[in-house]
Amino acid sequence: MKTGLALPLRADLAGREPYGAPQLDVAVRLNTNENPYPPPPGLVRQITEAAAAAAAGLNRYPDRDALALRADLAAYLGHGLDAGQLWAANGSNEIIQQLCQAFGGPGRSALGFEPSYSMHPIISQTTSTRWIAASRDSGFGINADRAVATVRELRPDLVFLTSPNNPTGTALPLDVIEAVCEAAPGMVLADEAYAEFARDRQGTALRLLPRFPRLVVVRTMSKAFALAGARVGYLAGDPAVDSGGTGRARHLAARPRAGRGGLRRQFRAVRQVRRPALGLAGAAGPRRAGQGGRPAAMAAGEHRSAAGDGAVPYRA
Ligand SMILES: Cc1ncc(COP(=O)(O)O)c(C=O)c1O
Repeated sequence: MKTGLALPLRADLAGREPYGAPQLDVAVRLNTNENPYPPPPGLVRQITEAAAAAAAGLNRYPDRDALALRADLAAYLGHGLDAGQLWAANGSNEIIQQLCQAFGGPGRSALGFEPSYSMHPIISQTTSTRWIAASRDSGFGINADRAVATVRELRPDLVFLTSPNNPTGTALPLDVIEAVCEAAPGMVLADEAYAEFARDRQGTALRLLPRFPRLVVVRTMSKAFALAGARVGYLAGDPAVDSGGTGRARHLAARPRAGRGGLRRQFRAVRQVRRPALGLAGAAGPRRAGQGGRPAAMAAGEHRSAAGDGAVPYRA
């Protein structure tokens, strides 16, 4: 509804359009990459019971540190991670926002390789972080040498690397992520929202965390786990990312609630049901994104640049 009322909006937000992926009433929503399979009835039951138990304590604020949830997420990820290296928020969009609030902001910049997830530039700009749009190569991959040269020249405070990428499905070889981490003067954000669909499950940037304290891996329960409505996104990184970084911005956000062990049960239940459906047991099915390939285009509506006027296009 347009009222015509002139509000004292920040000048850099004037005229900007909000995230616009339409919410269509169709079974397969490719433009938002939602899992078309609903959660299994057993999981729905468990969530309902957990919500009822939590409702009795809603007079209290939830655990500000979300420790039980973070411990469950660390157990799921493996790679020797513990709760102190995990942080969770309301969807990975909010994780990205907190990272931009903590490490971007006025006078700082974020660089991404387009086409990619259109919320990256939107979140960047709404947190007053200047967006720099670099380009992918003709196969939608990222050339390590060119990426390194771009990062060295422009010295962004944040570099976004999405793998597998939305909308192209292209997974990044680890050596590209490694090369960017070595060159980047600031934070490197590996957006692995689709990690569970990758053909090479070992190709995750989680493996690089011990070597690169300024690398942050962002994951979500929204995609493979079919829980987009639950709004649970999380990051894995150096403990300092939470205590010294996103922790500074966390009072802005409501905490996702999850009782001790609750999410672990959800992971188990979802995995049991999803394995055959998604080919998660190891078979390379058509739903998987390929290392360097692009077997399935993701989110057809996503590949326009959302960067808008304030963005700086960059061609290496
Ligand atoms: C690459 C990528 N990252 C992050 C997200 C955000 O997911 P959520 O906020 O539901 O965790 C999406 C959603 O489509 C995505 O495609």
